[in-house]
Amino acid sequence: MDKIRGVILAGGLGTRLFPSTKVTNKHLLPVYDKPMIYYPIQTMTNAGIDDILLVTGGNHAGDFLQLLGNGRDLGISRLNYTYQVGEGGIAAALSLAEDFADGGKICVILGDNVIHRNIRRAADDFRAQPKGAKILLKEVPDAQRFGVAEMKDGRIVRIIEKPQNPPSNLAVTGIYFYDAHVFDITRTLKPSGRGELEITDVNNAYLSEGTLTHDILEGWWTDAGTFESLHRASALVRDGGANLVD
Ligand code: G1P
Repeated sequence: MDKIRGVILAGGLGTRLFPSTKVTNKHLLPVYDKPMIYYPIQTMTNAGIDDILLVTGGNHAGDFLQLLGNGRDLGISRLNYTYQVGEGGIAAALSLAEDFADGGKICVILGDNVIHRNIRRAADDFRAQPKGAKILLKEVPDAQRFGVAEMKDGRIVRIIEKPQNPPSNLAVTGIYFYDAHVFDITRTLKPSGRGELEITDVNNAYLSEGTLTHDILEGWWTDAGTFESLHRASALVRDGGANLVD
């Protein structure tokens, strides 16, 4: 089976958590008993992904090195870092991972995504998938906050970023699997209305090529990028634990 390398996106200014993010990076804030960044790392190592690139930026990037070091204590065999200049969006941050990916498959996780269970089965399915991409969906009550999958007969027909009237309750989680073709796609992207290169445009490109697969994530999922979701993430971790292995 193919090797999958991991890319964790942990940049941004965290403006939705201001002033808490004035003197630190969002992904270093605590989610219950650990810094937020520990959760996506464990999501990867639980799925057998232990060669990881951390993409960060802003004024507090050095704090990641101080916290994580070479990553061995967290089960990472090789921890790489890269620095994103400016605010270009998720897909712009992802494009910095091209050399690291080295022509192989990658799993990308947004640094503020916290999950209950594990993604090993999806990772194994993608290791065996000949080409393309795989995304993980989750039913949510507030789909307008996310990328949303429009479904027909169990298939995704379109993904819409933060729709005012969501066509389903299936959010696109911040956990993505891509082959190396993703870097051809990121080169063709144009900035969206909010001036960013959108990961939703990447997923729609795979969809139109007919190589996008999906799964529904088991267990709870939350982001932690707003005060409300950060608080919810801490409560979910406290009450049920995160990244359970079975
Ligand atoms: C981003 C993506 C969105 C996705 C979400 C998952 O949104 O743009 O498609 O559903 O992450 O956490 P953002 O957190 O940048 O608002």
